[in-house]
Amino acid sequence: MSFPFLRLPQVILSIIVNLAEPKEIICLTQCSKRAYNLVKTYRKKSENVKIVVNDFENNVKVFFDNKLNCRLSLDSLYGKWKLVEREYSKTTFFGADFRLSLYCEDESEWKLKWDDPTTDGVLTLIDWATDLFRTDVWSLSVSKRTIHRLKWVESCQEHIKEVFLWAGNHTEDEIRCLFHSKANKFYLLSVPPTFDYSGILPSRTSLGLCQGFWFTPNHLMTSDFMELSVNYSILTNSNVNQFLRHWLAGGSPRLKTLSLEIKEFSLNEITRGIEGVIPNGDPRSQKYWTISGRELTFNDRMYLKRSDGVMATCSTIDYRIVRRIFVLAVWPDAKNRMPY
Ligand SMILES: *[C@@H]1O[C@H](CO)[C@@H](O)[C@H](O)[C@H]1NC(C)=O
Ligand SMILES: *[C@@H]1O[C@H](CO)[C@@H](O)[C@H](O)[C@H]1NC(C)=O
Repeated sequence: MSFPFLRLPQVILSIIVNLAEPKEIICLTQCSKRAYNLVKTYRKKSENVKIVVNDFENNVKVFFDNKLNCRLSLDSLYGKWKLVEREYSKTTFFGADFRLSLYCEDESEWKLKWDDPTTDGVLTLIDWATDLFRTDVWSLSVSKRTIHRLKWVESCQEHIKEVFLWAGNHTEDEIRCLFHSKANKFYLLSVPPTFDYSGILPSRTSLGLCQGFWFTPNHLMTSDFMELSVNYSILTNSNVNQFLRHWLAGGSPRLKTLSLEIKEFSLNEITRGIEGVIPNGDPRSQKYWTISGRELTFNDRMYLKRSDGVMATCSTIDYRIVRRIFVLAVWPDAKNRMPY
């Protein structure tokens, strides 16, 4: 028995279109031009939908309530393409005449047949998905080959939540340019071996560096991030000691979590001579939620207290014994909890 969906009263249609999950909505748009237009007419801005574009897979992921709901991907022929950077025109052509073919594995995946190897079809997918859900791209990963996606997304929206820059051959200019893009959070996997950045880093929500050899004590002292994570840094215990004094005196006031991998790290050296270090008397471990949703666990730790009463835990996190990362975690955490 068929169900006369399109003949339901408008109020009901509107309710259904706004309650449906992304994969159901996408399914509906592919039924007919009328169905697509219906979604476009009734679907309001989707607050709990996030569009994530990952460079590795050439697909667009749609998250719903922070869970992966479906993926839009280009068919296997696309794997062979050689991407030519070309003027891309903003069109939403496959809203009506285009058909996605459904391909189901563990999760829903919509495959799109893409026959024009000279343009980047992922841009079309981004365009279509952001338009359908009336939302921006939340997170974007780009490599050298796909850096044009960043430029393109930036031309379409005010901000991007996060940008991951994957390894490989970025020039120093490209990296500097990225620091000044519209992203709130940056993760940089690699930089050229001679990279350096003079001056102050721009103020953003998060910065994550996998290779921190170019991150200087001056960058640390002038940083204005809520989350700062630097692996393989060249900073010393005494650089961090100086930073802790700066923080205690009211410096870097927005900081919530600082993670630094330091050579010859020593918690005693780092806190040497600092007045008001509060030892920890609690044998139990302590949990801390970062603003990007990671849960940290601290064992050995001490506390710092600023004159305005703000507390921070100083501790370390070990990765497979060999790597030890110093963490300064400012309370309250992202779940608004206090240390004790
Ligand atoms: C980096 O560029 C060089 C020369 O342009 C090239 O030979 C090499 O394959 C590139 N490496 C990566 C990871 O893209
Ligand atoms: C630093 O290294 C740790 C351990 O490998 C890793 O979990 C973390 O994501 C790295 N951080 C950055 C910013 O690369």
